[in-house]
Amino acid sequence: MKRILLLECSPHQQRASGSQLARRLIAARWPRAELLERDLVGEPLPPLGADYAAALTSSAALDDSAFACSEALIAELEASDCLIIVTPMHNFTVPAALKLWIDYVLRIHRSFAATPAGKVGLLQDRPTLVLVSAGGFYQGPRARQADFLTAYLRHVLSTLGIIEVAFVHLQGLAHGEASVQAALDDALPQLQRTTSFYFDCATEIAP
Ligand SMILES: Cc1cc2nc3c(=O)[nH]c(=O)nc-3n(C[C@H](O)[C@H](O)[C@H](O)COP(=O)(O)O)c2cc1C
Repeated sequence: MKRILLLECSPHQQRASGSQLARRLIAARWPRAELLERDLVGEPLPPLGADYAAALTSSAALDDSAFACSEALIAELEASDCLIIVTPMHNFTVPAALKLWIDYVLRIHRSFAATPAGKVGLLQDRPTLVLVSAGGFYQGPRARQADFLTAYLRHVLSTLGIIEVAFVHLQGLAHGEASVQAALDDALPQLQRTTSFYFDCATEIAP
């Protein structure tokens, strides 16, 4: 494990439960890794402009200046051996900050190709962990709402070429302190399992 790209997507930034959990995980399992942090809320990406939209839908050169932000974000992803996305669920799906990152990174002719068989990812696969935080429940026996986040994000990542993806869900965070603790208790064994399996790393994460 050499370089980890940590994508922070919560308005609570490093105070978010998912962010704290991710940082504990990184410290325990990859203490010597180079951590590249991309805080999509603290340092918001510029809104998509007409130049980007026009370049994307024409045959603009890869080094067209309209692609500068997109190129920088894709290069950051390409330089990572491992991707960790910490995101809340907002209105059943990804928050706007993460959607904007997707709109810059998932780019035809650059990170995916449109072929007669469908869209094919052009980036190398890499172990990816997605930590999702939600106020309510969308999986399991207490689920009372739709989940348009998990399948959507898995699809986006696979369209980039990133298939090796594990999700860990922190649910019920708006149901009081006991529920937050239960979510964290539930997440720890999920993280132990998924990181051992996907990341070939078996160090214990301190509770
Ligand atoms: C704009 C907005 C929309 C939200 N939509 C949902 C939702 O659809 N389902 C849900 O369970 N919680 C929803 N929540 C609650 C958050 O998912 C919850 O507060 C979560 O703990 C936030 O995690 P964070 O601390 O990582 O930001 C929403 C919160 C906000 C601010």
